[in-house]
Amino acid sequence: MNTREMFAKAVDGGYAIPAFNFNNMEQLQAIIKACAETKSPVILQVSSGARKYANQTLLRYMAEGAVEYAKELGWEHPQICLHLDHGDTFELCKSCVDFGFSSVMIDGSSLPYEENIALTKKVVEYAHQYDVTVEAELGVLAGVEDDVVAEESHYTKPEEVIDFATRSGCDSLAISIGTSHGAYKFKPEQCTRDPQTGRLVPPPLAFDVLAEIEKKLPGFPIVLHGSSSVPQEYVDIINANGGNMPDAVGVPEDQLRKAAKSAVCKINIDSDSRLAFTAAVRKVLAEKPGEFDPRKYCGPARDEMVKLYKHKIIEVLGSDGKAE
Ligand code: 13P
Repeated sequence: MNTREMFAKAVDGGYAIPAFNFNNMEQLQAIIKACAETKSPVILQVSSGARKYANQTLLRYMAEGAVEYAKELGWEHPQICLHLDHGDTFELCKSCVDFGFSSVMIDGSSLPYEENIALTKKVVEYAHQYDVTVEAELGVLAGVEDDVVAEESHYTKPEEVIDFATRSGCDSLAISIGTSHGAYKFKPEQCTRDPQTGRLVPPPLAFDVLAEIEKKLPGFPIVLHGSSSVPQEYVDIINANGGNMPDAVGVPEDQLRKAAKSAVCKINIDSDSRLAFTAAVRKVLAEKPGEFDPRKYCGPARDEMVKLYKHKIIEVLGSDGKAE
């Protein structure tokens, strides 16, 4: 399904739809299992990195298989959207529409304003013919995500959002209010340090900017990228088992919970699942150096990701029980 109905319900209900990236079978199984067990609608996201890693054709049929898998797990009416994450050209978005994706993102946020509108409009005009919904982006997020790299963030300007949404015709809008991609979202100099634990305490999100955007576009679906929280227990397991991730820090979950209650109706999470996977794999391999069967470490990694996704759905996004 596309995102139209999912978002309308989420905006009304004060919760957010999880948008989880997937790159491999274990990740997809974990997402579907968590969503089936909690009856949460879900957006399966494919990034350009995922397409390069796993092959677009394979990912598309995996997503189709995921719908059947969900039903096998007892989820009678799965609500699953297949979404292109960070499409950067019209041709790429078109190929995903033609290929059966139900939603695409065109990320023209690095372009000048008018060019972003023109590119987004072109994608919208094509995608809407096939009832595919389109996410656009205004404002720049800092951080690194696959091929998307930006040094500095620029908050979305609330005074631009009405004009942008109206003229581009986009169905939802990703905004920049201080989230960022990856496991190192904030530089130590942007943070304070908890004197007890020595951990970085990140600066708060710009809720004033979000509130102004909501006022300008009441009821319009807003998207937050870069919303991993970088659970410190995973960072600790990774570091204790041969890893090296100093000062990895994310967006605190209470801030995301607050955002999910507002017009934010899609929250993108990728890095946290990578951390859960890596922590579990490192632990198994450290404890059992003789292990060479990938099922013996990918299995526990998958179980850990199920736990993580369920936690996000129930405790952070509030989307559990919304797709009975
Ligand atoms: P994280 O790196 O915070 O998980 O963000 C993922 C994302 O925004 C995908 O588009």
